[in-house]
Amino acid sequence: MSRKILILPGDYIGPEIVTEARRVLELVNDKYQLELELEEALLGGAALDEYAVPLPEQTLARARDAEAILLGAVGGPKWDAVDRALRPEQGLLQIRSELQLFGNLRPALLYPQLAAASSLKPEVVAGLDILIVRELTGGIYFGEPRGIRVLENGERQGYNTCVYSESEIERIGRLAFASAVKRNGRLCSVDKSNVLEVSILWREVMDKLAPEYPDVELSHMYVDNAAMQLVKAPKQFDVLVTGNMFGDILSDAAAMLTGSIGMLPSASLDQQGRGMYEPCHGSAPDIAGQGKANPLATILSVAMMLRYTLDCTEAAEAVESAVSRVLDRGLRTADIFTAGQQLASTREMGGAVLGELGNE
Ligand code: IPM
Ligand code: MG
Repeated sequence: MSRKILILPGDYIGPEIVTEARRVLELVNDKYQLELELEEALLGGAALDEYAVPLPEQTLARARDAEAILLGAVGGPKWDAVDRALRPEQGLLQIRSELQLFGNLRPALLYPQLAAASSLKPEVVAGLDILIVRELTGGIYFGEPRGIRVLENGERQGYNTCVYSESEIERIGRLAFASAVKRNGRLCSVDKSNVLEVSILWREVMDKLAPEYPDVELSHMYVDNAAMQLVKAPKQFDVLVTGNMFGDILSDAAAMLTGSIGMLPSASLDQQGRGMYEPCHGSAPDIAGQGKANPLATILSVAMMLRYTLDCTEAAEAVESAVSRVLDRGLRTADIFTAGQQLASTREMGGAVLGELGNE
């Protein structure tokens, strides 16, 4: 039986980074006889241009049919004037929601070779290895009612609703506890329960789950403090679990600790472990088409796909260690470049990873 992998390159740098990650996936596919069948479809602005919607029916149908999805990045200024319901980002949010990809894993791992590229002092980030578990299909991103309404005085008012049901909190909580069991056994749940009812319930549900995971030490932290602690003493964290919007913000902050958001992969999983894999960064319109983008976050997303959905740890580790060896050799795209290293284009970086994989 062949196993379908759907590739969604997306917009701006999306196709450039995905091309490199696809080459890696193809090599691994042959080398480990995974029998993957790769196909491509449109999402985001690219889909808007072709079909006038950011998530076309045929893309969604193929996504449902696929065992895993590899996504580049969507959105950008070209579609700024588009109606908000049709924005490229809506395609991404819809596909997450339609496929119930509630569990977003965002590991922030500092490659020792990149310690100098971090905006923090090397001793603050050396050895950093944290995992942010972000709830991805609920909270304020999806809560109803939402909209922009006109008040009686004629003034417009924007509004959104942050909602989490117990079952949604429990589902992401279990994924986070299970992740902590496999790591260093420390889980910090991040909320704003000094102000928000939705956070009071969040905290209650996390506390209720804790006795089922006796090997995990659960703590709680307010999100403002968590933001501060992330840049002050990030190594205190092992696994962080939080809601959709807090997770969006904290994961960008965590990314910078590691030198560049261009290094961070992510997995978005459903209850069965099927998933969509994408870099944490966006479509970077400012550097699109110049061969400057760092393909490593997307290549490392392939490694996550191999580990979490395709169950091929050996191949996942091979990709990760190939990336590490390329960094050892001093190759750097512009975002992680420091003096004395060798500047590489998107293509050169992808090619170097392929070379290392082939040389194993
Ligand atoms: C992310 C992105 C998306 C999000 C955007 C592009 C809708 O920032 O994956 O972190 O907010 O979830
Ligand atoms: Mg984000």
